[in-house]
Amino acid sequence: MTLTIRRADSGDLPAILTLLEQAEMYTSSVTLAGEVTYLLGEVDGRPAAVLGMEHGGGASLLRSFTVQAGYRGRGWSALLLAEAYALLRARGDQDVFLFSADEGGFWAHQGYRRVLPQELAQRLPLTPQVRHAVATGWLEEALAWHMTLPA
Ligand SMILES: CC(C)(COP(=O)(O)OP(=O)(O)OC[C@H]1O[C@@H](n2cnc3c(N)ncnc32)[C@H](O)[C@@H]1OP(=O)(O)O)[C@@H](O)C(=O)NCCC(=O)NCCS
Repeated sequence: MTLTIRRADSGDLPAILTLLEQAEMYTSSVTLAGEVTYLLGEVDGRPAAVLGMEHGGGASLLRSFTVQAGYRGRGWSALLLAEAYALLRARGDQDVFLFSADEGGFWAHQGYRRVLPQELAQRLPLTPQVRHAVATGWLEEALAWHMTLPA
C-alpha cells in the first residue's frame, strides 16, 4: 500500500475537514487561503492523511496533522513531515512551531521542545491559528512547541 503526497488546493477543503473530524481534531480556523500550504496524503486516490503549514517570516506553524486511524503505525507521519520540512527549507524557514492538543509526546519524540505560547504568537502573529487563539482567548493555556528546521 502506497501513500501519495500532494499539495492540496481549495477543492480539497471538504476532504481535509472530514479527515480532521474523524480524528476529533479542531477545524476552526482551518483555511487554504493566504500564506498556507496543506499536504494531502492519498491511498488509491482516497484521502488518508493531512498536514497543514501556516507561514510567516523565516518560520512556519504546523497544524492539522493526522494519519487516518486505519493507516497509523506505518511510518507515514515521517513521510509527511519530510515533505513538509523540504518545502519549508525551500521557502527559507529556520524555525518550525506548533500547538499540541495533548501533552505532546509525539512532538517531543520528533525533536520539538516546549516554548511559551507567547513566543510562538510573537513569531507568527498573522497566521490563522494564532489569530484564532488570540481572538478566542486560548493562547494563554496552549502548549506550544519549537524545533530548528533540520538541515
Ligand atoms: C500523530 C499521528 C499523525 C502519527 O502518525 P502515525 O502513523 O501514528 O505515526 P508513525 O507510525 O509514522 O510514527 C512515527 C514515530 O512517532 C512515534 N509516535 C507515534 N505516536 C506517538 C506518541 N503519541 N508519543 C510518542 N511517540 C509517538 C512512533 O513510535 C514512531 O517512532 P519511530 O520513528 O522512532 O519509530 C497519528 O497518530 C494521528 O493522526 N494522531 C491523531 C491526531 C494527532 O494527535 N495529531 C498530532 C497533533 S496536531
